[in-house]
Amino acid sequence: MIAYLLIIAVAFTVVAVSLVRLVGDYLFNQQMKDDQRVAQNIAAALADDFCARDAQAVYRAAVSYVEGEAARILVLDRQGVVQVDTDSSLNGAKFENPEAQAVLGGEELAGNIYRDRGGAPKWLDRLNLMRAGNMMTGVYAAAIHQRDQTEGAVVYISQAQEIYRGLTAIRGKIILWLGLIAAVALVLSMFVSRTVTRPIAEISRGISRMAAGDLSSRVNIRGKSEFARLAVAFNSMSARLQQLDNARSQFVSNASHELKTPLSTMKILIETLLYQQTPDPAMEKEFLGDINKEIDRLNGIVSDLLTLVNIDSGGMKLKPEQVRLGSLVQEQARRLMPLARENGIEMNCTVKDACETTGDPGKLQQVFYNVIDNAIKYTPRGGSVNIEVLRAGRRAEIRVSDTGVGIPEKDLPHIFERFYRVDKARSRETGGTGLGLSIVKQIVLLHNGTIEATSTVGQGTVFTIELPIG
Ligand SMILES: Nc1ncnc2c1ncn2[C@@H]1O[C@H](COP(=O)(O)OP(=O)(O)O)[C@@H](O)[C@H]1O
Ligand SMILES: [Mg+2]
Repeated sequence: MIAYLLIIAVAFTVVAVSLVRLVGDYLFNQQMKDDQRVAQNIAAALADDFCARDAQAVYRAAVSYVEGEAARILVLDRQGVVQVDTDSSLNGAKFENPEAQAVLGGEELAGNIYRDRGGAPKWLDRLNLMRAGNMMTGVYAAAIHQRDQTEGAVVYISQAQEIYRGLTAIRGKIILWLGLIAAVALVLSMFVSRTVTRPIAEISRGISRMAAGDLSSRVNIRGKSEFARLAVAFNSMSARLQQLDNARSQFVSNASHELKTPLSTMKILIETLLYQQTPDPAMEKEFLGDINKEIDRLNGIVSDLLTLVNIDSGGMKLKPEQVRLGSLVQEQARRLMPLARENGIEMNCTVKDACETTGDPGKLQQVFYNVIDNAIKYTPRGGSVNIEVLRAGRRAEIRVSDTGVGIPEKDLPHIFERFYRVDKARSRETGGTGLGLSIVKQIVLLHNGTIEATSTVGQGTVFTIELPIG
C-alpha cells in the first residue's frame, strides 16, 4: 500500500513540476517576445534623434517610455558607451552585456531573462536592479539603424517579477493540494488496508487453529463481503470436518463394541468347556455349535465393515450391465423363502412390470436380500411380507412391505445410519449388526437411486427403492 502511494506521489510530483515549468516557460517566452518588440519599437522611434545627436530629445523620448514602470532604458553608441540612461547614473560609462554586444556586433535583436540573484553577472549589478525580492530581470537589446548601418543600440531593462510571483503562487497551491491529497490518500489507504487485512488475518488464524487440530475452529466475519462468504464457506467446511471426525470415532467405537460382544460370549463358552469338572459330550457339542455361530457373526460383521470401508474409500467399483429387476428381486425372494417359512410368514412377490436397469447385479442382489431379510426378521409369526416390482414413470419401483413390528417415528430418520438399531436386544437375537441398511443405502446411491421407509408401529413397514430405468 505504501509502495503504491509512493509511486502515485512521485508521479504527481513529476507532473506538477513539469506543469509549472511548462507554464513558466510559456509565460517567460511570451514576456520576452513582448519586451523585445518594445525594445525594437523604442529603437525605431529614437533612431532619428539619436543619429542627429540630440541627446536631450532621445532622453525625453526614452523617459516617456519607462515612466511609471519598473523599467530602464540605456542608449549605447557603436562602442557600447552609454549615451542616454533613463536613470542618469551610467551616462558615459561603457556598458558591456551579452545582449548589447550581440546587437552592436550585427544582430538585429537580443534578449534574455536573468533569474538568479546570487550568480548575477557583474554588469547586472551595476544596474542596481537586483533589489531585495527582485530576482527576474529581462534585458533586451535592439539595434538603432540608419541607412542599413548599425549606429547604436537600445537596451531595455524590464522586470519579470510578476510572472515569477504568479508561478510561485501556483507552485504553492499545487504543493498544498498535493499535500492534502496525500494526507487523504494515506488515511483512506490505512482504512482500506485495515478492512482488507483484518478479515484475512481472522481467516488465517482460523485455518492455523484447524491445522493445529482444533476442528471446532470457526471464524466470525460479519457483512456481505467476499471475506464474509469465505468465512461462511470455511465454517461449513470445518463443521463438516468436525462431523466427519465425530462420525469416524463413533464408527470405531461402535465397531469395537460390536466385535467385543461375540468375543466375550466365546470366551465364556470356552472357559466353561475348559474348566468343566466332568466332561459332558452333549454340552460340548452344543457349546461348540454356539461358538461356531459367534464366529459366523464375527465374520458377518467384519465383512460388512470391509464393505463399508470399501465404499467410503471410493474403492467399490460397480460392474454395470443390463439387469432385469423383476427376476433379480424374485430370485432373492426365493432364496429367503425357507427363512420365511421357518418363521411362519407368508411371502408374495409380484412383478407388475419387468423393468430393466443398468447396474451391478451382485450389489443389487445384496440390496434386495437385505431389505427382504429385514422384513422377515422384524415380522412376528403369522404375518406377511409383500414384494412388488413396478414401473413409475422413468423409474423402476421396488416396494417391500411387511406386517411387522414397525419402526417408531423418532427412529425412522436414523435407520440408515451405521450400527443403528431400534431394538438392540431383538436385533442381536436375529443376528443383525445394524450395518445392513447403511450398506443398502450406499449401494442404491451408487446406482443413482433412492430408498425410503414409512412405518406404523405395530402395523408394519414399507421400504420403497427407486432405480432409474434403462
Ligand atoms: N422391516 C423392518 N421392520 C421393522 N424394523 C426394521 C425393518 N427393517 C429395519 N428395521 C430396523 O432398522 C434397523 C437397522 O436395520 P439394519 O441396518 O438392516 O440392521 P440389522 O442388522 O439390525 O438388521 C434394525 O435394527 C431395525 O430396528
Ligand atoms: Mg438387516
